[in-house]
Amino acid sequence: MKGFIVREFGGPENMLFEDLQQPEPGPGQVRVKVFASGINFAETRMRAGTYSGQPLPFVMGMEGAGTVEELGEGVSGFEVGQRVFGRARGCHAQQVIFDAEHLMPLPDNLSFAEGAAIPVGWLTAWHALHTVAAVESGQKVLVEAAGGSVGSAALQIAKQHGCWAAATASRDDKLEHARAFGADLLINYTRQSISQEVMKATQDTGVDISLMTIGEATARELMDSMGMDGKVVMFGSTGGKDICFNLSIGILNLQLLSMSISTSPAFVPVTMPSFRESALPLFEQGRFKPVVDTVLPLTELVRAHQMIDERKHFGKVILEVEQ
Ligand SMILES: NC(=O)c1ccc[n+]([C@@H]2O[C@H](COP(=O)([O-])OP(=O)(O)OC[C@H]3O[C@@H](n4cnc5c(N)ncnc54)[C@H](OP(=O)(O)O)[C@@H]3O)[C@@H](O)[C@H]2O)c1
Repeated sequence: MKGFIVREFGGPENMLFEDLQQPEPGPGQVRVKVFASGINFAETRMRAGTYSGQPLPFVMGMEGAGTVEELGEGVSGFEVGQRVFGRARGCHAQQVIFDAEHLMPLPDNLSFAEGAAIPVGWLTAWHALHTVAAVESGQKVLVEAAGGSVGSAALQIAKQHGCWAAATASRDDKLEHARAFGADLLINYTRQSISQEVMKATQDTGVDISLMTIGEATARELMDSMGMDGKVVMFGSTGGKDICFNLSIGILNLQLLSMSISTSPAFVPVTMPSFRESALPLFEQGRFKPVVDTVLPLTELVRAHQMIDERKHFGKVILEVEQ
C-alpha cells in the first residue's frame, strides 16, 4: 500500500508518498481501507517537528473514513466491508489501523469525504462543550476561529444545544458561512474588538463559555469577554502558546479548563459513548452537517497543508484515495 511518511521533520517536501508495509491489526484493532482522510492544523506542526511527543518516522494523518478489511482479536460490533470512520494515526494512506474504541459506523447518508470531515474537529468540540464545560441550553458561547475544523463543529453543536453563539474569524466570507450555521454575533477580530462586541451584544454580561482555539494572539480579548462564573476551555494555540492573564479574573470566578482529547481520561469512557448516542443520530437526521471546504486527491497532501497555512478554509480540507 502507499501512504505519506515523514522520516525527518521539516517542510512539506519531507512528506514522502511511498510504498509502505500493509499494517496488521493487533488485539482490539481493525484494519480499514481508507477512502478519505481529513486534514488538521496539528498535522502541519507534526510534520514540522513542533508537536510535542511526535516520534519519527510516522505516517501522516489523524482521521479517516473507509471500509473494514480485517478485525483483530477480540473485536466485536464491526464486520468486514462495513463503512466506518474515526480517529487513527496514519490515515493519509491506503490502509490504516484503528483502535476499535475510536471507530464508529458511518451513517448511510454521509459520503466518505463527509465522514472524514467529522472525527477530530467534532469530537474535540463535543468533548470541550459537553464533557469539559458541561454546556447548558441557553448559555452564551464564544467560538474562536469559527471557520476552523474545531470551530465549525463547535458552532453547530452550541446552536443545536440551544445556546447563543458568537463566532470570530479573520475574514468576512468565513463569518457569512458562520451566519448560515446560526451564529448570533459575528466578529472579524482583525478590525473589531472581540470583547467590545461581545459586551455590547450581551448587555455587559459576557459569555458563559469560551473555546480558546487561537491562544496567545487573542487570549486577552477572550478573557475580557467572559461573564460571571464563566468557563474558558483551552485546547488550541494556532496563534501562540504563551498566554498572560490578570488575576482579577477571580472577581468573575472564572474557571480555566485545559484539555486534550488524546490524553483526557474522560475521552474514551465519556465523550465517545455520548458522541455515538447523541451526535450520530443528528448526523443521520441531517441536523448536524459535516463541513467540507475542499476535496483533493490523496497525492495533493502538500497543497492541503498550504491551504491550512493560507487560513481561507471554512470547515475541512479532505483527501480522497483513488480506488
Ligand atoms: N487539544 C486538543 O485535543 C485539540 C484537538 C483538535 C485541535 N486542537 C487544536 O485546536 C486548534 C485549531 O485546530 P483546527 O484543526 O480547528 O485548525 P484549522 O482548521 O486550521 O483552523 C485554525 C484557524 O485558526 C485561526 N488562526 C488564528 N491565528 C492563527 C495563526 N497564527 N496561524 C494559523 N491559524 C490561525 C485561523 O482562522 P481565522 O484566521 O479565521 O481566525 C485558522 O483557520 C489547533 O491549535 C489544534 O492543534 C486541539
